[in-house]
This record gives sequence, structure tokens and C-alpha cells, in this order.
Amino acid sequence: MHSDAGRGADEVVVVGGGVVGLACAWRIAQTGRRVLVLERDEPGAGASGVAAGMLAAVAEADFGEGALLRLRLEAADAWPAFAAELTARTGIELEYGRCGALVLAVDSDDVEELRRVQELRHGLGLGSEWLTGRDCRRLEPALAPRVRAGMLTRDDGQVDPRAVVRALREAIRREGGELRAGVAVEGIDETGNRVRGVRLAGGEVLPTRAVVVAAGAWSASLDVCDPPPVRPVKGQVLRLRGGVAGPLAQRIVWTPRCYVVSRPSGEVVVGATVEERGFDTTVTAGAVRQLLEDAREVLPDVEERELVEARAGLRPGTPGNAPVVGPGGSDGLFWATGHYRNGILLAPITADAIAALIHGAGPPPPFRDFAASRTRSEGASLAGSTA
Ligand code: FAD
Ligand code: GLY
Repeated sequence: MHSDAGRGADEVVVVGGGVVGLACAWRIAQTGRRVLVLERDEPGAGASGVAAGMLAAVAEADFGEGALLRLRLEAADAWPAFAAELTARTGIELEYGRCGALVLAVDSDDVEELRRVQELRHGLGLGSEWLTGRDCRRLEPALAPRVRAGMLTRDDGQVDPRAVVRALREAIRREGGELRAGVAVEGIDETGNRVRGVRLAGGEVLPTRAVVVAAGAWSASLDVCDPPPVRPVKGQVLRLRGGVAGPLAQRIVWTPRCYVVSRPSGEVVVGATVEERGFDTTVTAGAVRQLLEDAREVLPDVEERELVEARAGLRPGTPGNAPVVGPGGSDGLFWATGHYRNGILLAPITADAIAALIHGAGPPPPFRDFAASRTRSEGASLAGSTA
């Protein structure tokens, strides 16, 4: 059964109303194409509505990342202009800021680990400063006396992901794009190696020649040829509010056990677990207790705050922890998924890349290493290693 037969050939359907899908839809709409976002639930119902909103390219840098680190740094540089444009178009404040991040050590194991991490940062040419415990408390007076040392990265930032979702919805509307919530996509119809339409859960088919799959952790569940090996990686977070006036800290606070993001509005986000539990989003008492203890270790004032939310989200993980952004196996199919722990950070440059690809350009430089085709061999080697 086909419907909306009058849709123009230039219409693009985006599957998924998380930050990645919405950002892609906004940028595509800005190129003059008609765009339709299909979201099974409500926009932001997936990982994007749970995320802490760190834009922490440097603080989250890990060993052996190479191309992924360069991508994150480029993504961080794209955020100021993206946030300014989004707020200017919609009037919605995103609480975006380059607040910096403080990575802390509490015991001697932490200090040793932090020294290794700082050497890595310096080896990669990334700026970070070593601080004593006293220096740390001078910067952030709410820190506990037991903090022994810290590493300051000035360029990392933060944003409120829920505000970003609200703003992107409004920006898409203003560009003439359409969003349908409560519409589940079952699969992509392809014939002769070309996309023909999007099949909805009830069997209805919306004809289209271009589909962007941005269904987060569920991207590989769609009935589509050759999906990339995206899997859910559970993360539990807490949201606190109130108590002492103003933000708990000016900067993002990291320890080897947790992170704490304090927003100007007074919201405090404490995260996060990293769990391989399939599509389970249960919040567990053990995780809540552990996150509170880990945050209290460095910021004792968390105890005075009201616990307003405990939630679990599903990060779209891939075998190499890197996103999958680029054309799929059929003409007209594009993947924008697999952003794992950095989807908020990477959304603006993902959206630019997808809009450029749909416009007929080749893969933009930062994404050349992150095409869907690479995941076929990663998926195969992953399958081989577990066999
Ligand atoms: P999602 O936000 O999950 O959106 C996918 C959407 O697709 C969902 O709304 C879903 O309902 C919809 N959908 C799925 N299947 C279908 C279907 N068949 N039909 C229609 N719709 C469908 N990233 C950062 O950069 N900074 C952070 O600080 C950060 N913190 C995080 C903390 C936690 C605890 C977690 C879980 C994640 C965090 N992330 C962070 C990662 C980030 O949240 C994700 O990488 C990002 O949100 C992925 O966005 P997305 O749009 O691809 O997926
Ligand atoms: N980037 C933070 C998280 O995934 O928990």
C-alpha cells in the first residue's frame, strides 16, 4: 500500500528524531529540500534525551583513537557557530558554553592514571594543565579536600541536549520541514539497488528516493539491506536540582568513576554507567547508589540536592566506537548512526556531512574514515572473534 503519492522526488525521509536525526533534517531543509522526520516515540525519547551534554573532545580522549579524536576536535569547533545559529533562528537558549573540564585524581592510583592520561594528551598536542589539589579547589570551591590533583582542559564545553532537541524541532518547522511523532518505521524498500520508499509498522509505504537512517541504537533493527553493526550500550544517569544556589561547579568534573555536569540553570547531571545489556533500560538501585557515592567523593554538596530523575539510555555503539556516517549499499540510503558516547558533540558535523552528501558531494574530509562500508569488515571480524 503506497500513500502520499504526490511527494516530490526531492523529499528526504529521516528515520529517528534524536539529536542526530533532527540536526540532519534541519541542515537538509536549509538546502531547500523537503524533509520529513519519522519518530516512533517523541523526539528526544532515545539517548539524546538522557545524555549529559558534555562536548568533551579533550577530556574524553582515549588511547589509540587517532582519526576519531580529530573528528571530535573538529566537532567541538563546529559547536559555537551551530549553537549561535540555532538560538538565533528559534530564540531557544541551549545553555551552551566552553566551560572547560577538570579531570580529578583522588587516590594514588588515580594520580598515576592521570599522569598517563596527561602524557597522552601532550603527545597528541592537546592542551591541558596539571593542577594540585589546592589549585583545583581554588577553581572549584565545592570540591572535597580529598582531591589530590587534577588536569584542566579549557576547551571542553557543554550544552543542554533536551534544549537542543526542542530548538531543532522548532528550526525544522521554520524551514518548512515536517516531523511525525508516534510513527514507527519497519524497513526501507529498495529495488534495483535504489531506495523506493519507507515501510511503516502498519505496512504503509511512503515513497521517497532518499532516506537517512538516524535511529540510534535501533538502527540495525530496521529491515534494510546490510545494516552496520550498531548495538545498544546502556548508560544510567541522575539529574539533581535545587539545594545550594547556583551551579555546583563551573566546569565539568571527571573522575575515573563518574562525571558531573553542572548547568547554569542549576541542573546537575551525574553519569554514567556503561553496560552491555541489550535493549534493557531498567534503572537499578545499585547504579543510583554507586553514582551518588562516586559524585559525593569529589563534590560532597550533591547530597544537598534534590534527586529529580534517574534514567537509562541506550548509546548507539559500534565495534570501533566510531560513528557510521555516509552512503549505504543502495542509492539514496544514508547512515547517520553509531555515535556511541559522543552523539551530542558530533551532531552538528554529522548533519553538515549528510546534507552535503545528499546534495551530491563526496564524503567530507572528517568523515572519510567513518563510512558505512568500513563496518562490514569490522562486523565480520567481530563475529569472527566471538565464534
Ligand atoms: P537517539 O537519541 O537514540 O535517537 C534515535 C531515535 O530514533 C529515538 O528517538 C528512537 O525513538 C527513534 N527510532 C528508533 N527506531 C525507530 C524506528 N524504527 N522508527 C522511527 N523511529 C525510530 N553524547 C555526548 O556527546 N555527550 C554526552 O555527554 C553524552 N552523555 C551520554 C550519557 C548517557 C547516559 C548516554 C546513554 C548517552 C550519552 N551520550 C553523550 C551519547 C549520545 O546521547 C548519543 O550518541 C546520541 O544521543 C545519539 O543520538 P541519535 O539521534 O543517533 O540517537
Ligand atoms: N559521553 C558520556 C557518556 O556516554 O556517558
